[in-house]
Formats: sequence, C-alpha cells, structure tokens
Amino acid sequence: MSIYRAIWRRSLDDPESFWAEAAELVAWERRFDRVLDESRPPFYRWFPGGLLNTCWNAVDRHVAAGRASQPALIHDSPVTGTIRTLTYAELQDRVARFAGAMVRLGVRKGDRVVVYMPMVPEAVIAMLACARIGAVHSVVFGGFASHELAKRVDDAKPVLIVSASCGIEPGRIVAYKPLLDAALAQSAHAPRHCVILQRPQLRAELVPGRDLDWEEAMAAAHPVDCVPVEATDPLYILYTSGTTGQPKGIVRDNGGHAVALAWSMRNVYGVQPGEVYWAASDVGWVVGHSYIVYGPLLNGNTTIVYEGKPVGTPDPGAFWRVISQHDVRVLFTAPTAFRAIKKEDPEGTYIKKYDLSRFRALFLAGERCDPDTLLWAEAQLGVPVIDHWWQTETGWAICANPLGIEKLPVKPGSPTLPMPGYDVRVLDEEGHEVPPGKLGAICIKLPLPPSCLPTLWNADERFVQSYLSRYPGYYLTGDAGFKDEDGYLFIMSRIDDVINVAGHRLSTGAMEEVLASHKDVAECAVIGVADELKGELPLGLVVLKAGVERPHAEIERDLVQKVRDEIGPVAAFKLVTVVKRLPKTRSGKILRGTMKKIADGQPWTMPATIDDPAILGEIAEALGRLGYPRRSAS
Ligand code: COA
Ligand code: AMP
Repeated sequence: MSIYRAIWRRSLDDPESFWAEAAELVAWERRFDRVLDESRPPFYRWFPGGLLNTCWNAVDRHVAAGRASQPALIHDSPVTGTIRTLTYAELQDRVARFAGAMVRLGVRKGDRVVVYMPMVPEAVIAMLACARIGAVHSVVFGGFASHELAKRVDDAKPVLIVSASCGIEPGRIVAYKPLLDAALAQSAHAPRHCVILQRPQLRAELVPGRDLDWEEAMAAAHPVDCVPVEATDPLYILYTSGTTGQPKGIVRDNGGHAVALAWSMRNVYGVQPGEVYWAASDVGWVVGHSYIVYGPLLNGNTTIVYEGKPVGTPDPGAFWRVISQHDVRVLFTAPTAFRAIKKEDPEGTYIKKYDLSRFRALFLAGERCDPDTLLWAEAQLGVPVIDHWWQTETGWAICANPLGIEKLPVKPGSPTLPMPGYDVRVLDEEGHEVPPGKLGAICIKLPLPPSCLPTLWNADERFVQSYLSRYPGYYLTGDAGFKDEDGYLFIMSRIDDVINVAGHRLSTGAMEEVLASHKDVAECAVIGVADELKGELPLGLVVLKAGVERPHAEIERDLVQKVRDEIGPVAAFKLVTVVKRLPKTRSGKILRGTMKKIADGQPWTMPATIDDPAILGEIAEALGRLGYPRRSAS
C-alpha cells in the first residue's frame, strides 16, 4: 500500500488519533477535551473544549520562535509599480495595532467585521486583527457591486466595515468608496463605523462621524494582545453563490481550520516553514483566505499578495517574474490564468527569460482543469502540475495529489484521490454508490473533516436543507462526476445553478433575479456556456412583457449594465438576447440543460416532457445570433 493510502485509511478508521496528531502543528492555549463531538448529528464539531488564537498561531508564535525578521508578506503590485515587504515582526505590530484600533471603536469578540478591499496588505492585516480579538471577519470580493455587498452586510450585520478608497484594475481605477456608500444606502443594517484606507491613486470622501481614515486610526491605537477563543468559535464567514440570489454564509471555525490548513501546507503542498508560497488569487475568495492568508502564515512561510493579472501587467511573463524575483517555491492559481498566459505566449517565450530553477510545483483549482492546459503547463515549466478539487465550504482540498507525502501518478482531467478525512462517494438518484466510470452526484460521508463548514451563518436549517438532506448521512458537494477503477475522481459538472467564470463561482439564479427585475422583462433564463478562456460565461435569454416596443438592442444593453451594476463586473455578463418564449416542460420548468447543450454544440435529445418542441428551434436561432455554438465547440 502507498504511504498516502495508509495515511488516508488511518484518517477514516481512527479519526481521533489522526487529527489529534495533526493538532500538534497548532499552539493551543488549552488543549481540547475531545477531538470530535458527534453528539448532535448531522452537526459535528472539532476539538471542543480547546482554546487557541488563530492570529497567535499565524503571526506571534513565529516572532517568538525566531522568525521576526523573515518576510511574512510581500505585496507585489505591478498595477501600482510597487513592492512592499512586511517581516513577521512588522506584521505583528500592524495587526496588533489595527486590532487595538478596532477595540477602540467598540469591536468585541463575536462581532462581525466586513472587509471590502483590493489586494493590499491592509486587507490581510484587517483579517488577522479580527482573528486576534475574536471578531468574525467577512471579506467581500472587490469585483462585487453594491447590491451584493448590501446583501452580505444585511446577513452578517457587521459593527464595522474596513474598506479602501479604490482598487486598481488594468486601465481603470475602481472607486470602492462610492460602491460601499451605495451599499450602505441600500442595506437595512448600518455598521457603527467604516475604516477607509486612502490610496494615493484616488482619495475618498469620508462621512464625518462614521468613517475613519486607516492611518489616523492606526496612529491613535495601542497594540492589543491575542484573545483566546474556543476552537469551535467562528473565525470568519465567507459568502458564496448558491442556487438562489441569497448567498450562503459559510462559517469557518478556529480550531479545525488551523489544524487542517497547517496539515495541508506540509502534506498537500509540500512546503516547509521559511519557504515562499504564492496563491495568485484574491483575498475575497476561499483560495485567498486559505492560501494567501492563513495556510502560509500558520506554516511560517512568506506569502505573496499579488495585485495584478497573469497577462497585461505588463505581459504574459508576470507570473515568472514574480516567481524568480521572490524565490517562490510553490504557486497555486486557477487554470484560467494559465489559459490566459498560453493564449498570449503559446511557445512559452517569456518563461525562458526567467530563472525558475528553484520553483517546485504548480497547483491548480477553482474550476475544472482541462487536460490541454495541464499538459501545456507541465511541458513549459518542467515541474509537477497538480489539479486539486475543493470548495468554499471545505476550506481545503477534498481531492489532491499530496506532494508532501508522495507524488501519485497524474491523470490529466482528475484531481486525483481524497485527502484525509474525506470519504468521497459517487451516488445515484437512490443513494447507491455507482460503479467505476459511471456518473453520479459526488458526496462525502459524514462527518466532514476539520475546517469544513459546521453550518451556515444563522441558518442551521438552510445548511441541512442545502447540503445534508438529499442523501441522509452524506454531504452533497453539488458537483457531479465519476471515479475510475483506481478511485481517481473526475469532476464533470455542477448539479445546481452555479457556474464557474474564470475560477469565480457565480449563481445564474442571482443573475436571473436581476434580469427579472427589469421593467420590460416578463421572464428569463441564464445558462453557463463553454468558453475557451474563462471556462464558462453566463448567457441570458429574456422574454419581454407584452406591449414593450423599445428596440431589443437597447433593452439588451440595459440588462448588461444592470447585472454589472447589481452583481458586479466579475459576473462578466455580456451575452443576452431577447426571445419570444422559453422552452419549458409541461409542468412549467425551464429547460436550461437542453439550451446549454445547444449553445455548447453538444448532442441533445428532445425532452419527452417538453411543452412545445418548436421553441427549441427559435432558441437555436437566438443563440446563433450571439455566435453560439462557437465553431471550436461544435
Ligand atoms: N475589483 C473590481 N473589478 C474587478 C476585480 C476587483 N477586485 N476583479 C475583477 N474585476 C473586473 C475586471 O476588471 C473585469 O472587468 P471588465 O468587464 O471591465 O473587463 C471583470 O471584473 C471580469 O474580471 P476577470 O474575470 O478577472 O476577467 P479579466 O478579463 O479581467 O481577466 C483573467 C481574465 C483570466 C486574466 C483573470 O480572470 C484571472 O487572472 N484569473 C485568475 C484566476 C483567479 O484569480 N481565480 C480566483 C479563484 S482561484
Ligand atoms: P469555490 O467554492 O468558489 O471554490 O468553487 C467550488 C467549485 O468550483 C466546486 O464545487 C467545483 O464545481 C469547482 N471546482 C473547484 N476546483 C475544481 C477542480 N479542481 N476541478 C473541477 N472543478 C473544480
């Protein structure tokens, strides 16, 4: 049996001893009473009775252990032309000071703090400062617009919001503060204060009495110490897209999270303390939470906070420049970033310009990794390229190739095998396991391992209904796929209305809500269509109300702008067309799956339950107007 298999087997046969041993990677203020509390299924809690502080483990502990002068964080920002390094001692000082500033503003243990910031060190400082005082952060990705921000503010009810005057996208400055102000004008809940980082590229107007300047708040603050919290206390809430327009508030605990992440840094990524690790993502996504902030810092690594893109800042050599300049050993990003690089530099000319001899491995996740991209990256870089699969809900890899243990054979198209604690099963409609090669719903047998969501924020019932009720005793991942005869998992599609655009998880349901609220729209459907660069793109089909006479092109322009204004540019919603009617089953269910197959140029059959088959001809014609199916997809 391989070493990996023995470890994985042990994690399922004897989870108590497996995770107790992993918990030694973390410094506890008081050791836990039990490893796993199974007394209230389907709710499970890891390390009850344990006391710890995640910020202590990520920052102070390393200063005390001799890493004070090691860089903890390198902010590499090609969009501003700056590079800034913070050592562990400097990070500790900034975090303790910002924690003091928050305490001064009345933030207490258990209070929520929303962080809406671009990729600047202050975003990381704010997150760690929350962890330091036991406040619960909820980071909202900067590419979301006011309406999405407002929804999260109303659900999390923060006492404080930390934001910045602006973010910088290639070619434009994104004014964050007006987006924040508009969100607070819409939300029912109002935070007591906002702390705003004024960036030199664009200064923001502050609201007297409510808003404070970051630098002034820091200058007036006294550093505060770490507050021990229960292992089961929430560290953060991260909202993610589900089937409806109301995002799900994924809760992360302190203890299980710290243990699983510390374990993953050594065993999945094979990174030793002191090395430089880079996750080219954004702190607004789970990849950023786990592998820009907590994972590398818990493990005593130097983390890179990159404010740029894989291409265009300034060229497709940007990633190679960062890797060689900062001695990055392991890079983690989404396949879409590599598709973008490959498109602009297919021969890898830029790769040859940099010394990448110390670079060890590339990890890809966030969306399906097409074999072409994986093989291209492998050939260009000459290092292992590892596809791994996980979700906001889990916080770390469900399936991976654990380079820190042993490199298992790579099968392009598969994220390999389950990580410890994950008992992954592929189930049919009735809940029976399907044989190898057969497609089914991918589920995980309960209990989920440490770091996975214990519940949804203030929504136990929604947690059970969304994830645990379809197959009692199992967690429903929402992904469909199959296992091969060696147990390798292949993720093929989602079983819900979630789509994946450039590695960003988005809800077509949320976009439909926006389109449906337009005064001229009677009904609509949004589907995800295949895209060579971004993996998927949303495409809207709308039916107008009777009597609407405005030109269709004008309404379509309105709708694109409306999604951009309400969800945000990250939705990349640019494809929409007016149709006379939508295809439905006799019971009135819109046939989104069939429309998607037509758009992707895949074989499809006429659904037996269709109300009126002629409508699909009209839909094919409408999709043709938008250029679908694309020639390469047909
Ligand atoms: N704040 C404001 N706007 C943002 C933003 C932010 N933090 N992040 C993205 N946007 C905007 C972009 O400017 C773009 O706007 P546009 O429509 O005016 O061009 C839109 O949102 C879509 O952004 P994006 O999906 O990033 O597309 P892109 O065309 O700018 O870049 C890639 C394409 C492939 C280069 C880019 O998606 C990428 O680098 N992906 C890496 C993958 C990644 O980070 N995944 C996260 C999970 S691991
Ligand atoms: P998020 O919660 O934003 O991380 O998105 C999680 C979803 O992205 C998963 O449920 C999958 O649908 C998809 N995903 C993530 N990683 C992979 C992968 N390696 N292969 C296929 N799909 C993936």
